[in-house]
Amino acid sequence: MVRRLFERLRGLRQVAPHLLRPAHVNADRAKISVAQLGHHYANKVVALKDVNLNVRSGEFVCLLGPSGCGKSTLLYALAGHVVPTGGSVAIDGKPIQGPGPDRLLMFQEAALFPWLTVRGNITFALGARGVPRNERRERADTFIQRVRLEGFADTLPHQLSGGMKMRASLARALAVDPTVMLMDEPFGALDAQTRVHMQELLQSIWMRAGKTVVFVTHDVQEALMLGTRVVLMAPRPGRVVEDLEIHLPMPRSLEDPSLDAMARDIRHRLRAVEGPLENQHPEPLPRRTQTPSSLPRPSIVTGR
Ligand SMILES: Nc1ncnc2c1ncn2[C@@H]1O[C@H](COP(=O)(O)OP(=O)(O)OP(=O)(O)O)[C@@H](O)[C@H]1O
Ligand SMILES: [Mg+2]
Repeated sequence: MVRRLFERLRGLRQVAPHLLRPAHVNADRAKISVAQLGHHYANKVVALKDVNLNVRSGEFVCLLGPSGCGKSTLLYALAGHVVPTGGSVAIDGKPIQGPGPDRLLMFQEAALFPWLTVRGNITFALGARGVPRNERRERADTFIQRVRLEGFADTLPHQLSGGMKMRASLARALAVDPTVMLMDEPFGALDAQTRVHMQELLQSIWMRAGKTVVFVTHDVQEALMLGTRVVLMAPRPGRVVEDLEIHLPMPRSLEDPSLDAMARDIRHRLRAVEGPLENQHPEPLPRRTQTPSSLPRPSIVTGR
């Protein structure tokens, strides 16, 4: 018994380095390419400095780091809602000039129209994207099914739980079919159990749909559950400190001991770059999203 435990612990220590490898993606093979990106807000806060990041088509990249390290700013630069003060951001080789229908941004709030049903919210978004009227209902129902909300198509948002609202929001996001999904702590407001269900759902949908996802999180376990890559960021100034590929098969499980070992490894790396203790947030880090005040609400930005 003791020997087995010892062997298991030894296995955990060894497994992490094999499963986390530095990512090397060339800009010319990238779907998203960020080069020497810098951004300072009007109050002179340097939110991002010299950020380089290339994302391949179909990757699920998690931006992970403490509060204030520029995760949201980087995401909004990709969405085209923040115009960076330096460097470049391109999708398919074309510089980003504002929001576009190829990208979709989701926040923590589901932001459904309260006077429309689940189906109504989705068909409305489809209409806004120019999908012909006679195709909208069927397409909405396909995605309602995909997020397992069958039976709730005619329900109003206030009659749904937080997790169900987020599933409706996800169905709407998927229905409009962007090639890139940009998600800013979308599950941050959910309770722990619902959060895990949403992670599993998102993972199964991603495995099927093959979308490129950039997903911001504070949560190491969440990043390791979902990502094909985890990009570690640090604050003051906001920057990328490590870019790692996660070599764990999917679907993943929080019960997986390798995932635990990797989480410890990542926490260790984050602690090493986060700076003096008095500047850090206590663990677990607060789950909240700072949204630049200039950003439009609601939380789904279809960017036409
Ligand atoms: N609209 C704004 N005006 C001025 N400063 C801002 C604005 N938005 C963000 N900042 C500052 O820029 C830095 C990076 O902020 P950002 O919101 O990108 O960080 P974050 O990593 O997403 O943090 P969190 O995890 O708390 O959401 C922070 O110091 C923040 O105070
Ligand atoms: Mg943020």
